[in-house]
Amino acid sequence: MVDYKKIGLVNTREMFKKAVNGGYAIPAFNFNNMEQMQAIIQAAVETKSPVILQVSKGARDYANPTLLRYMAEGAVEYAKELGCPNPQIVLHLDHGDSFETCKSCIDMGFSSVMYDGSALPYEENIRISRQVVEYAHKYDVTVECELGVLAGVEDEVASEVSHYTKPEEVIDFATRTGCDSLAISIGTSHGAYKFKPEQCTVDPQTGRLVPPPLAFDVLEAVEKKLPGFPIVLHGSSSVPQEEVDIINANGGALKAAVGIPRKAAKSAVCKINIDSDSRLAMTAAIRKHMAEHPDHFDPRQYLKPARESMKKMYIHKIVNVLGSNDKL
Ligand code: G3H
Ligand code: 13P
Ligand code: ZN
Repeated sequence: MVDYKKIGLVNTREMFKKAVNGGYAIPAFNFNNMEQMQAIIQAAVETKSPVILQVSKGARDYANPTLLRYMAEGAVEYAKELGCPNPQIVLHLDHGDSFETCKSCIDMGFSSVMYDGSALPYEENIRISRQVVEYAHKYDVTVECELGVLAGVEDEVASEVSHYTKPEEVIDFATRTGCDSLAISIGTSHGAYKFKPEQCTVDPQTGRLVPPPLAFDVLEAVEKKLPGFPIVLHGSSSVPQEEVDIINANGGALKAAVGIPRKAAKSAVCKINIDSDSRLAMTAAIRKHMAEHPDHFDPRQYLKPARESMKKMYIHKIVNVLGSNDKL
């Protein structure tokens, strides 16, 4: 059993309390490789922002669970080395699919876990969420649970359609599970194709697809039922069209990729999950570099601009979208 506090990580409790009271959101950036992790930490240090490093089950399978956990330990030391004496870094399991996955992360030093039972029947979701919470709280690890289903097809999270969270269920769910934060579904979805073209309208000036509005009435109703309770928004990447254009201009084929408009992501929620925008920034920079320098073959030559591009995007999110800068 690794004590996350001994390796300099923190859980989300205080972080979320401050974010809720201060009206800003904590960035939760997924990572599965060194360049993403470096860019996230550099961005958090430069903007003096708390940050959640999140690891999906797919990331653990890709990179190796032990390696990722040591990278997070390294991230704390790296932040200090970059001039941040007291970094606020959470190591969080994203979309834990079972009690066993959550337990394995808690045992190896994660400070926060998500149990995602959103696709299960309501009572089953409560039963396993409660089991995870009971185990996690013994070690002061915080737990995010989910009610309502996000659409989107990914390795570990797959659903064709979304079902909005039912506000009338949230008090019962939060009370009976004892969870520390609640992920809700208000129409966002995972990945770079958040909406089908037929769900969108077309901006007559740019010809770009404009996504349908999110269900802010559901968010407001949830916040009324659970005042001050930490609410989490998944699937919040904005899918910048400039990045999509760079990818497509350099041999890529991303058709009709649509994300969440910037103003929609800025809301009263206190944790915002972003993964796809990092993938797009990295891919666009690498494709551009490869096209401009066909003679390069040292990965450092194209991973360096990719890292810079991700860092720029993370800083933009922190400062212009979430408002978590200058909070350390
Ligand atoms: O919500 C899911 C994250 O974007 C992680 O995706 O399962 O492909 O690592 P992944
Ligand atoms: P995006 O695919 O919109 O980046 O969402 C990521 C996410 O919700 C991770 O849990
Ligand atoms: Zn998610």
